Amino acid sequence: MTLIEFNETQGIFHLHNSKISYLISVEEGGLLSHLYFGKKVKDYHGQMRYPRVDRGFSGNLPGTFDRTYSPDTLPREFSSAGEMDYRTPAVLVRQENGANALALRYKSYQISAGKPSLPGLPATFVQNDNEAQTLTITLADEVTGIEVDLLYTIFANQAVIARSSKLRNESDQTIYVEKLASLEMDFVDKDFDVICLPGAHANERHLERGAVNFGKQSFASLRGSSSHHMNPFIALVDKKTDEFQGEAYGFALVYSGNHNFEVEKDQLAQVRLVAGINDFNFSWKLVAGESFQAPEILLAYSDTGLNQMSQAFHKTIHNNLVRSKFKNEERPILVNNWEATYFDYDEEKLKPIVDEAKDMGIEMFVLDDGWFGHRDDDNSSLGDWKVYQKKFPQGIGHFADYVHAQGLKFGLWVEPEMVSFDSDLYQQHPDYLMQVPGRAPSPSRNQYLLDMGREEVRQNIYDQLVKVFKEAKVDYIKWDMNRNMSDVFASDLPSDQQGQVYHRYILGVYKLMEDLTAEFPNILFEGCSGGGGRFDAGWAYYMPQIWASDNTDAIARQTIQYGTSLVYPVSMTTAHVSAIPNHQTGRKTPFDTRGAIAMSGVFGYELDLTKMSQADKDQVKVQVKQYQAIRSLVQFGDFYRLKSPSEGNQTAWNFVSADKKEAVLVTAQVLAYAQPYLTKTKLAGLDPDKYYQDQETKVIYGGDELMNLGFYDPVVHEDYTAKMYHFKAID
Ligand code: GLA
Repeated sequence: MTLIEFNETQGIFHLHNSKISYLISVEEGGLLSHLYFGKKVKDYHGQMRYPRVDRGFSGNLPGTFDRTYSPDTLPREFSSAGEMDYRTPAVLVRQENGANALALRYKSYQISAGKPSLPGLPATFVQNDNEAQTLTITLADEVTGIEVDLLYTIFANQAVIARSSKLRNESDQTIYVEKLASLEMDFVDKDFDVICLPGAHANERHLERGAVNFGKQSFASLRGSSSHHMNPFIALVDKKTDEFQGEAYGFALVYSGNHNFEVEKDQLAQVRLVAGINDFNFSWKLVAGESFQAPEILLAYSDTGLNQMSQAFHKTIHNNLVRSKFKNEERPILVNNWEATYFDYDEEKLKPIVDEAKDMGIEMFVLDDGWFGHRDDDNSSLGDWKVYQKKFPQGIGHFADYVHAQGLKFGLWVEPEMVSFDSDLYQQHPDYLMQVPGRAPSPSRNQYLLDMGREEVRQNIYDQLVKVFKEAKVDYIKWDMNRNMSDVFASDLPSDQQGQVYHRYILGVYKLMEDLTAEFPNILFEGCSGGGGRFDAGWAYYMPQIWASDNTDAIARQTIQYGTSLVYPVSMTTAHVSAIPNHQTGRKTPFDTRGAIAMSGVFGYELDLTKMSQADKDQVKVQVKQYQAIRSLVQFGDFYRLKSPSEGNQTAWNFVSADKKEAVLVTAQVLAYAQPYLTKTKLAGLDPDKYYQDQETKVIYGGDELMNLGFYDPVVHEDYTAKMYHFKAID
């Protein structure tokens, strides 16, 4: 199947599949121009050639007299500094003479089957080369010899393109890459809104939408991490776009470090997006012959609203980014002891929780923070991955055996990137800590960052973890990271390479994860960073699931899980039922509500099972069975958002199996009213010609009825309610 064509006479590249087309042209002087990204077109007949108009103060190409052709207005694929383009550049390179000018011009192209990997970085892949094609366009700067490869992969069956860029120093001098975007995309005649996912610890990824105005907006993280505060994703959408209609362009960076999405509306109301690693404190030295690879970014297009954009991301992340052998396996229902005990536990205190878990049908016990060093609170022992003898006198393996003997899997919490001052590791290797010489490092949760960019540091942690993973016979690992980066400095790098530290850190973390996940393919790894502080597409390459938030409140979780679903598949999003009053918000929500919201993700419990009422214990047994019955559908079905928690008193979403024979609907309401306005819920994604039976009431509906008429939501006189409906198609 041909997915990429090049028309030599026109100088037009056309990437297409049955859903989308992406058009690029080589213009006068070798400038690469962006023509189109959107719904599929069969052929291209030249109508998107950018009109030549003389624009004041937008100059022209050196050596030409044509005033109508300016790099400052042309929609570009990858712009540089130093030429007549006053918009945000995609690349900045400081050269030996101090100049940062580059004139990147089309040099050559290559089309290859499949999808190349990106060394050291997470990136999409395909099983067979016929699932994708990759176009590499090489741009070159004639004066220095510097070259940039632009990579575009189009997948055969998705409305998704993966892009990245690589700068090769083909000059004879040492240069410093001070910015290298993963993508630039310019739009003409688009009055966009921009959607982003900002947040905070315990309040991650709530959907925000605003106008793209003149000037520049930036959606960024400088925390050394993809962050709770601004997820590495934006969507540019038409004003009228909603969940089910309108155009949406989504951009998700496959990267876990500092990022920046710069959106600029220029003098002609054209919109430029430049996205990739944040150039703050970034400077990558390249001696002659070396190259720098920017992370990958996924572009998803939808002409029928946000749900379709999200589904394209979900499928691509699940199929082409998650590598774990557990990707298609139903994930175990777990109980985690964090909110049950915090640090106050030992083996004898935990055993009854394990016993209860067994009785309730729960499938895995996860031992959270506090099992190592001499950790009784969060002031010590990070870096010492040896069992705390006081809590486990017969070793961690002994407790793991107990858990396994009850028929449960055993999981363990670790925080590999950190060190406490009060630790053996710090006593032995104070230099492993990231700190600026002569300055006291800043604590956060009274802990400090190890410089994971250094091989020696990684090796130390790797050796400790391998030992304990084996000893503890773990089935699952929760990999945490409970602070952001500060004191950014690497003691082993010279001054002209300190601008590499942020990125080198993330590459080091990727390397450590690569090594450990390769060494332990049978461990299910879950990412975490104070909840969802590193919930990004890059992480999915190493770990198939991530703890979505430390906020376990069922009302707050609706907003968090709703926003998360904009990009990330449900199989990646973990959600637990916890105790009331909720530890983060103090709110008391009914047990059913907590169950319905947590069952909308990868499900588990985060409470002391021994301290529950008998009624709640019985309810857990019911929930476990209920979730087991819908687990595959929830984790691997198609997900549709129906009502947004940020737009009113209600939330609704539904899951539909691939064969459309089964669906689960979850509806939730925040407050009850004396005289409520009546509301309806309509499902989405069903087969209109099938008949579906509500498994609880046994009432039968047509798929078209459920989608077009819907039904009245029940009137309830109770706050914080939620209800789960399970429909099965009948013959
Ligand atoms: C983070 C995690 C929590 C828990 C604690 C332990 O905050 O998100 O789930 O593991 O660390 O310290």
